[in-house]
Amino acid sequence: MADLFTELTIRGVSLRNRIGVSPMCQYVADEGRANDWHFVHYGSRAVGGAGLIIVEATAVAPEGRITPWDLGLWDDGQIGPLKRITEFLRDQGSVPAIQLGHAGRKAGRSQTWLGNWRVEVSQGGWERIVAPSPVSYYPLDGAPEELTEAEISKFTDAFAGAAVRAVEAGFGIMEIHGAHGYLIHEFLSPLSNKRTDRYGGTFENRIRFLMEVIHAVRKVIPDSMPLLVRISATDWMPDEESWEPDQAVELARRMKSADVDLVDCSSGGLVPEQKIHPVPGYQTGFSERIRREAGVLTGTVGMITDPLHARQIIQAGQADLVLIGREFLRDPYFPLHAAGRLGLDSSWPDPYHKAK
Ligand SMILES: Cc1cc2nc3c(=O)[nH]c(=O)nc-3n(C[C@H](O)[C@H](O)[C@H](O)COP(=O)(O)O)c2cc1C
Repeated sequence: MADLFTELTIRGVSLRNRIGVSPMCQYVADEGRANDWHFVHYGSRAVGGAGLIIVEATAVAPEGRITPWDLGLWDDGQIGPLKRITEFLRDQGSVPAIQLGHAGRKAGRSQTWLGNWRVEVSQGGWERIVAPSPVSYYPLDGAPEELTEAEISKFTDAFAGAAVRAVEAGFGIMEIHGAHGYLIHEFLSPLSNKRTDRYGGTFENRIRFLMEVIHAVRKVIPDSMPLLVRISATDWMPDEESWEPDQAVELARRMKSADVDLVDCSSGGLVPEQKIHPVPGYQTGFSERIRREAGVLTGTVGMITDPLHARQIIQAGQADLVLIGREFLRDPYFPLHAAGRLGLDSSWPDPYHKAK
């Protein structure tokens, strides 16, 4: 039976356990390049025993960064510092993954701890904020510009270009960021996508950009490399005209047919008015349903902090992988501690053998 500390094999890659570090922006990169902070941050969580480490949302284009301090992979010069990190993570037994994204209408902000204000161009912000439609997330800051079809196809190419660089940087798993109200999710939801061309309107049209990105990325990564997509399974809006779980299930079926290996099930982030009441495991119903109805591997995330809870999710078949966010910020050694709590032999790294 699957358990938290049994291996998970996805396509050609095996994880030593089913605990993953959820992607978490650090907002400390230099011109999109990783630095010592990233090395120590990700490295510590590999030492701490994570099976999978998904490096934070990494922009496929400069103006696709949420902040000027996001990681990026639009330039070959950004490969080297990431390579140093992936090599260390592998040495420690973790599989390095990276989340590729574009922030769409939520781009060009300051770091969250400074208040998430719009960064002026004079302070390094972007000239243009772009989105599927001129519908704002931050009404006080004005509407984003609607992308042309030619620009949409340039972004599809940008995802593929970044994926090629990510392979070069040594990542073993690729994740596309289709959640949290960023560019891809903005196409999916009728609340942010008001287009009347082939990228808007029907379900088929709204998922088109994501499906094109999936095809483009799948084509340039090795056959043996797992492809994950993080989605928001709902906008948490009562509005019938929003993105909701039935559509997420159908999307998951399509993604599975397009050789996506695991759907990372998150939710929300599209509109500030969302009606969300987070409690431990509040998104696990989505991963369970998508896993069952779309027949695809799923990951779950959201306020999972207790090893017994994480184990129960896997044992009950609610997800194949448990992603942990903030608890990994509090405790980089979460998996080692979790193994101890579950009465398993936790293999602390040799230099830390006295910690057992
Ligand atoms: C500091 C921080 C940065 C985050 N950055 C990202 C990100 O880059 N990509 C993403 O998909 N989610 C991001 N998230 C969401 C987390 O990956 C996770 O889904 C969320 O925090 C819920 O899980 P948790 O309750 O275990 O923290 C971020 C969350 C935090 C706290």
